[in-house]
Amino acid sequence: MLAGDGPTARALRIAVGEGARSRPMKDVPMLTLKGARGHNLQSTTAKFPLGRFVCVAGVSGSGKSTLVEKILLRAVREKLKLTTEEPLAHQSIDGWKALKRAVAIDQSPIGRTPRSVPATYVGIWDEIRKLFSLMPEAKKRGWGIGRFSFNTSAESGGGRCETCDGAGVKHVEMAFMADVVVPCEVCAGARFSRETCDVKLHGYDAGEILGLTVEEARQVFSQVAKVKRPLDLLHDLGVGYLALGQGSHTLSGGEAQRIKLATELQTGGGGTLYVLDEPTTGLHVSDVMKLITVMQQLVDRGDSLVVIEHHPSVLRAADWILELGPGGGALGDGSWRRGRRTTSPGGTRPRRRCCGAENARGWAKGLTRTPSAGDHRPARWNSTTTSS
Ligand SMILES: Nc1ncnc2c1ncn2[C@@H]1O[C@H](COP(=O)(O)OP(=O)(O)O)[C@@H](O)[C@H]1O
Ligand SMILES: [Mg+2]
Ligand SMILES: [Zn+2]
Repeated sequence: MLAGDGPTARALRIAVGEGARSRPMKDVPMLTLKGARGHNLQSTTAKFPLGRFVCVAGVSGSGKSTLVEKILLRAVREKLKLTTEEPLAHQSIDGWKALKRAVAIDQSPIGRTPRSVPATYVGIWDEIRKLFSLMPEAKKRGWGIGRFSFNTSAESGGGRCETCDGAGVKHVEMAFMADVVVPCEVCAGARFSRETCDVKLHGYDAGEILGLTVEEARQVFSQVAKVKRPLDLLHDLGVGYLALGQGSHTLSGGEAQRIKLATELQTGGGGTLYVLDEPTTGLHVSDVMKLITVMQQLVDRGDSLVVIEHHPSVLRAADWILELGPGGGALGDGSWRRGRRTTSPGGTRPRRRCCGAENARGWAKGLTRTPSAGDHRPARWNSTTTSS
């Protein structure tokens, strides 16, 4: 079974260790967060290796999102003078000067209207519009790239359908019920005016191009690197079935998150801290594998990854694991275990070093918790904690 080439066999192989890189951990610069105190955290101190794949684990309610999203990420963004919400209480953050950017890649929508679509979000629509404007049929009529935008009105020289304003759909208000969305009766979803659709690119008009799936478009634009590369990334992330023009408001959280990842991968890279909160939620096991491959690419090019995750495959792919716990809520008091994931020579039997409660030496210097009033930890945890 494991030796096979099907998606399940591949997924099982990664579950037993494939996909891990084992990057060196010696002398790695660290992002150090001290005295984090949001929600249930009681003065937690944690170190996050930079330029590495770091996983933050721990039971639900142990404070992972609080620590990583509401404190670490916001604190770094604040230091970098990026707009951010106020981080929750913490003493200090160090090591951030090695970073240029810090962003969350979350499952929030990439847009809320039909006017934002995967093709515009990943930036290929501008490229495709340029190609349309170079067609003899467009040149003859003096149409530039603005003609092929479905967000530009006819008054401003755009060639969109003016009945639906380029949305391809119309909202019909229903008394006492949610709006019903119906295809536009004039363009039938094409988003462009009939004249605009006279111009063809590889045999397709602009509306038809938006109707192609990522997979189909990869074939059509196989010779156009600037268009093909982002499409390849979407394919690699397992969303090759999406249409280029699918309204962003209809994308699932997981789809939106993977489109954001594909967009990030096209940027130069290096010096960015990426935070992902449980990105495998809702993903099929074979899509988890694709996600891991792409996350490894971000680290390979020099970015730092902090992923909150319980999925065993992701934990095994990580260079470093921090575990917050031991329990949820008041029991999850912000104490830490940390460990390096190591893989035995065969690569198939990953084990975690320094990560079990049974291993007292596993507690890292610096990954300590300052005991405070209201210490709820069971005695067995106290014996393994270095207090400062
Ligand atoms: N906005 C909030 N106000 C009060 N308590 C919160 C808030 N958000 C989270 N908590 C509590 O803080 C604890 C840690 O939450 P969270 O960081 O979301 O945990 P995790 O991400 O590990 O599941 C939980 O007990 C949760 O109920
Ligand atoms: Mg959470
Ligand atoms: Zn229309």
